[in-house]
Amino acid sequence: MSDQTITSVSRESRVFRPSAEFQRQANLGSLAAYKRLYAESVNAPEKFWGRQAKELLTWRRPFKKALSWKLPHAKWFVGGQLNVAENCVDRHLGTARENKAAIIFEGEPGDIRTLTYKQLHREVCRFANVLTGLGVGKGDRVAIYMPMVPEAAIGMLACARLGAIHTVIFGGFSSEAIKDRVNDCQAKVILTADGGWRRGKVVELKTNVDRAVGFTPSVQHVVVLKRTGNAVTMTEGRDRWWHELVDAAPVEHRAKGFDSENPLFILYTSGSTGKPKGVLHTSGGYLLGTAITTKYVFDLKETDIYFCTADIGWITGHSYVVYGPLANGATILMYEGAPNQPGPDRFWEMIDRHGATIFYTAPTAIRAFMRWGDEHVKKHSLKSLRLLGSVGEPINPEAWMWYHTLIGKKRCPIVDTWWQTETGAIMVSPLPGVTPTKPGSCTLPFFGVVPKVLDEQGREVPRDSGGKLFLKNPWPSMLRTLWGDDDRFKRQYWSELPGYYFAGDGARIDKDGYLWVVGRIDDVLNVSGHRIGTAEVESAMVSHPAVAEAAVVGRPDELKGQALVVFVITKSGVEPTKELREELRAHVAREIGALARPDDVRFAAGLPKTRSGKIMRRILKEIAAGGEIKGDTTTLEDFSVVSALQAQED
Ligand code: WT7
Repeated sequence: MSDQTITSVSRESRVFRPSAEFQRQANLGSLAAYKRLYAESVNAPEKFWGRQAKELLTWRRPFKKALSWKLPHAKWFVGGQLNVAENCVDRHLGTARENKAAIIFEGEPGDIRTLTYKQLHREVCRFANVLTGLGVGKGDRVAIYMPMVPEAAIGMLACARLGAIHTVIFGGFSSEAIKDRVNDCQAKVILTADGGWRRGKVVELKTNVDRAVGFTPSVQHVVVLKRTGNAVTMTEGRDRWWHELVDAAPVEHRAKGFDSENPLFILYTSGSTGKPKGVLHTSGGYLLGTAITTKYVFDLKETDIYFCTADIGWITGHSYVVYGPLANGATILMYEGAPNQPGPDRFWEMIDRHGATIFYTAPTAIRAFMRWGDEHVKKHSLKSLRLLGSVGEPINPEAWMWYHTLIGKKRCPIVDTWWQTETGAIMVSPLPGVTPTKPGSCTLPFFGVVPKVLDEQGREVPRDSGGKLFLKNPWPSMLRTLWGDDDRFKRQYWSELPGYYFAGDGARIDKDGYLWVVGRIDDVLNVSGHRIGTAEVESAMVSHPAVAEAAVVGRPDELKGQALVVFVITKSGVEPTKELREELRAHVAREIGALARPDDVRFAAGLPKTRSGKIMRRILKEIAAGGEIKGDTTTLEDFSVVSALQAQED
């Protein structure tokens, strides 16, 4: 068992070189410059990061030492003091950016609101005064359960301004999830709204908070933003209207400097067991990591209109809607609702209307766009776009090519960015204009990142063989611990192989040194002694013209260890027949070899997903094995999908 390697089966070999035109204007203009800086970042990390921290951030008090590293605990920019909100907002005042749009917001019903840096500053200051008035100070926890509206970012920045710790809970989560997270971090205040718009309906956020707060004794106040205007119950003394508090608050607020290691936020992320992990990020290192990656990976320019579709409830929303772009003085386009409201072309229509230049989304969304049909894209010009990004899971080459052709018009570089809630910022990604790309590969490490693909004994696997993905050196935006559970932090990330951070992913490095992530280790199957990344089989399946989406799981099998079961959603108009099932099995065998021929292909109308779009394989595994669904299903987006799959007679 232990000396088997992960068999990596992808055979993608296309290479796309950056255009001379993009390269000429890129923030980092050549592979040689990247290599030189990368070498410095790993050979002399303190020198490299110390210089970047001075260049990219504004310090109240200079740091004495870039790094103190007592494995697995890092302190970055020791002795330094800064204010994160001041770095994201105040320092753009008095410059040409003062009256530049910081946030262009579009609500799902079509309402548009723009906040310049000056206006954002005013709102953050007023809300910081509101929070102070509610007794929030340095180190206190504030939970944010809000729709994607500017006030969510204002709430985060106001916490940062006070040295308080925010924990954003995704607005799609249930009251159960609010209760667990609020109790885990003992939040004093919850920021919420009456509701938010999603697919033309109101998501009743305040009602969910009401159901939770009966069981969260730490909560003293709930601040409620009026967004949708639906009726809510306000509990006297505890619940306060956002606008009333803000109207009464002074606009002057003097920010203090806080220690570089002052906690900035806790973000809960799911582990393989039930209890969510409270990933803790701190100030200076996190902000530097998000600022520098935004600058280089998104090749950010003063004139960009940057559209990241992630919700602020996820790390992508923290790092690449709020902190990274604002630290760079960028204009962000923020959208409240669903991508197919009122029609499947909402994003493309918005991109044209606002002139968005950078677009950052997830492969699961790209596959949905593909399924909805090219005609919705072709109605729009998309000529303002110059750069595309992908994050969240391995992007299958078919989706990559579609993104490249239909959205990028073969003109925009694609940055496939590998990172995690825990890493805080992008770790592995092409640099646009610099790195030749290969569809499905996140390519080369960012500055300071040393990825290693190792076997069970900690030996480097040969080029092009699969193994487990580790990171060797500490980096500024790394998680510092798990809130209230440092033992779990050590166990989870630092015990797989002493001295290395374990990412939990399977990967391979090809002959050009390019990284290919094949999926989570716990998604890795063992078929006849070969470990196969589910993502690769899924990718092969989706390359068939009849298939829109696929999910692969293992079913215990006496002969093979695990048999491959594939759940398939066909494209609209395709009949799921017996013949098609055989054809798909043959197709996968053809694409990646007989060892990956699915034992079972099951047609489905939908797949069980979390609200962030990750397929819940644990549930599919239980369905594949014919058993009942055990364990937590509260993070599931739509339970009816599961009932439908179970009811299906094969
Ligand atoms: C896991 C982290 C990072 C923000 C969103 C997800 C997978 C993420 C990629 C990519 C292949 C990717 C990994 C990683 N992942 N980006 N570009 N290529 N896999 O954050 O919920 O913390 O999940 O997402 O498996 O470990 P997260």
